[in-house]
Amino acid sequence: MTVHIQKKISSLSVSTKKLSHFAGWALQQLKKDDHNLNIVLVDDPEMSWFNNHYRQKKGPTNVLSFPFAEGAEIDLRLINVKELGDIIISVDTAKREAVEFGQRLEYRLNWLIVHGILHLLGYDHEKGRKEAKRMAQKEQELLSTYTQIRRNRMTHLAINVDHVATIRQARGITEPDPVTAAAICEMAGASGIVIHLREDRRHIQDRDVYLLRKTIKTKMNLEMGANKEIIKIALDVKPDMVTLVPEKRQELTTEGGLDVISQKKKIARTIEKMTAKNIPVSLFIDPVEEQIQASFEVGATFVELHTGTYCDVTSERAQARELQLLQTAANEAVSLGLRVNAGHGLDYHNTAPIAAIDGIEELSIGHAIISRSVFSGLDRAVRDMVKIVEEAGR
Ligand code: PXP
Repeated sequence: MTVHIQKKISSLSVSTKKLSHFAGWALQQLKKDDHNLNIVLVDDPEMSWFNNHYRQKKGPTNVLSFPFAEGAEIDLRLINVKELGDIIISVDTAKREAVEFGQRLEYRLNWLIVHGILHLLGYDHEKGRKEAKRMAQKEQELLSTYTQIRRNRMTHLAINVDHVATIRQARGITEPDPVTAAAICEMAGASGIVIHLREDRRHIQDRDVYLLRKTIKTKMNLEMGANKEIIKIALDVKPDMVTLVPEKRQELTTEGGLDVISQKKKIARTIEKMTAKNIPVSLFIDPVEEQIQASFEVGATFVELHTGTYCDVTSERAQARELQLLQTAANEAVSLGLRVNAGHGLDYHNTAPIAAIDGIEELSIGHAIISRSVFSGLDRAVRDMVKIVEEAGR
């Protein structure tokens, strides 16, 4: 199946990739995914021309459907042509209707796409009330299912509470407790808690890992190096997932992604051990095609794309380039069947474009949230970040 979108307008705030994805999904639902479809996005003057020329009606309309070779003299079913036809949509009219019905433009355009596809398949609301009801019901069913799927796939926020433990360890006493912090994060809307049990125990302690396993209500993601002692603890604690990261004693925080290619055997063995205990494994990697391919080959369930370089670069141009690399990497990972998370260095200013990348399920953020919590309180700091992530992912 190919959905071809031709954009004959100068600007559109909705990505044609998203519209094309929706159209492809709708064709699949309607069991027509072996067919090709053309969608042409035009402005009102061009739509008026089509409306006048083909329907002898004045002015623009929202959508017109032209079944493939309508009126042809031979029955095309006999030669097995897999073309559905063309849908022409006026974006100007769609924008006006979106305002009138209080809908987002993307939703309105999706509605027009589904309306157009149903016409191509023979539905026709102009044939009477019963047919109009049947068509409206089908449109509603498809759009609500799609909205629900999108909502379930929305990007979520997991919070790394290591930094709370760092403050505690600076005094060597019992406060502040990362276990309490995790509970506050969850109450404020975090979808998961991340902790990194380092070999040198510089922040998170074994006691935290075991206690958090009992108290976390959402999802526990244990970050770790593929080291014998830590693997043993992970297999005993059984977190909801582990993220393998490179670990160096001298570093302040994780530096760079895991080189999966050069350690394939070791990583595959660790993944095997985790899989035997039903613990999914994520590999923290740079957004590089070869690392994604290697992650797939060693049997990872997730990759966590390293956003550090995107966060560190200072020019807009470099940031746009890094964002593009992350988008491409997310696509490549999804197309291999890998699930995708991302994180490192994200803050209140640079997170939204990452949360908007299709395919990224969860962001792992620590430093920015814990830093802000010193001034605004942890509950507020989490809620502010949840809002950014949710709004961008919509
Ligand atoms: N993801 C991984 C793999 C990490 O190692 C870290 C840092 O602990 C993070 C995400 C979170 O990074 P930050 O604290 O910069 O938000």
